[in-house]
Amino acid sequence: MRLNLYTSIVLVFGATSSHCWPNAPLVTSGRWILNSNGQNVTYAGVNWPGAADVMIPEGLQYASVASIVAGIKSLGMNAIRLTFAIEMIDDIIDGGGDVTLSTAFNKALGTTNGPLVYKEVLAKNPQFSASTTRLQVYDAIAAECYKQQIYVHLDNHMSKGGWCCSDTDGNGWFGDTYFDVTKWKRGLQYMVTQGAKWGNLMSIGMRNELRHPLDNASLNANTYNWPTWYSNMVAAAKVISAANPGILIFFSGLDYDTTLAPIAQGSGSGVTFKKSDFSFADKIVLELHNYETTVGSCSTLQSNLVGDGFSTLTAAAANQMPMVMTEWGHDQTDGSYAGVYASCLHSYLPAQHVGWTIWVLAGSYYIRSGTQDYDETWGLYNHDWSAWRNAAAIANLKTMVQATLA
Ligand SMILES: *[C@@H]1O[C@H](CO)[C@@H](O)[C@H](O)[C@H]1NC(C)=O
Ligand SMILES: *[C@@H]1O[C@H](CO)[C@@H](O)[C@H](O)[C@H]1NC(C)=O
Repeated sequence: MRLNLYTSIVLVFGATSSHCWPNAPLVTSGRWILNSNGQNVTYAGVNWPGAADVMIPEGLQYASVASIVAGIKSLGMNAIRLTFAIEMIDDIIDGGGDVTLSTAFNKALGTTNGPLVYKEVLAKNPQFSASTTRLQVYDAIAAECYKQQIYVHLDNHMSKGGWCCSDTDGNGWFGDTYFDVTKWKRGLQYMVTQGAKWGNLMSIGMRNELRHPLDNASLNANTYNWPTWYSNMVAAAKVISAANPGILIFFSGLDYDTTLAPIAQGSGSGVTFKKSDFSFADKIVLELHNYETTVGSCSTLQSNLVGDGFSTLTAAAANQMPMVMTEWGHDQTDGSYAGVYASCLHSYLPAQHVGWTIWVLAGSYYIRSGTQDYDETWGLYNHDWSAWRNAAAIANLKTMVQATLA
């Protein structure tokens, strides 16, 4: 009896004091991200999409949440970039509550295939039931990640759920056909409030891949610029900071998030950005994407990245801030992992102590651009999420994870 009591005390206190993962909140200091112990934190992780038509994170008809997260852990990774659509929150707030998984699959896949996929999800994930909602799947993924000590970074990927992105999909820019700015801010606020309960929500990306809204010529001509970017992004960051002051706020750039040049430089293109203007200055992180998969040389890629915003990492930068490459990736069915582009990022990102999340975990999507059970050749997992797609590429990726976390 005594021994048992003593053992439980050791377990309880041992679990909370000596292993107080995730050592939240994270803060920034110059170009570094630090945990509450003052140690550097660098993300080495993967994108787990959940912002497509069904608005449920992918793969659950093929594998359990626990086994998918265990796969991520087996790569040595420490983070996921979990994407969501604002439409899910609109449904919750305006539609009288979130919909069940069954309803979501029926709506996106139709009443023939929807029930079949839904049944497979329940078979692989018996912790879910007829009453489980989409948001509860996000909760479950975060809980499993907590258990396996994986940080969650949320990313608002789309307003209307669907495959991202094109210049004409109506989701590209503030005020675009589906991109209602008020609903966007409300959705961010909702998700960071929800995520505050998880314990391992470390950060959020405010918007994936802003781009020209070519479906609306006047919107494009009159508003696609850095001043519009500034007013909207800063307003959203303030909403996030008020709702959940603990998390890092990632600012993405223009042109599919390939440039943040004036932000790193402090001014240019009609905008002035001063980190010190913000009460949450120690929460601001920059994020870029890079898909220059046909680049000729590593030195070209490096100088492009410096020009696009990596200059923020230097002491001379007007705004010195952390940088995370939240998307890069390549075909997993061939030797791309050993090509110029991938090899360059494999060495350059760890050398710069820049965190990253590779696109993409998904071996397939419930539906992408109208095709159900769409095979993702860029997926780390194979089609049915049962094994890695390319063992040699994965071995290579593991060395990059190790170098990043070293
Ligand atoms: C973070 O890592 C860098 C590079 O290794 C090092 O220079 C810096 O001192 C580290 N910061 C902390 C707080 O450990
Ligand atoms: C284009 O955007 C403007 C706002 O700049 C809006 O007033 C207009 O209704 C939009 N046009 C279409 C066709 O959506």
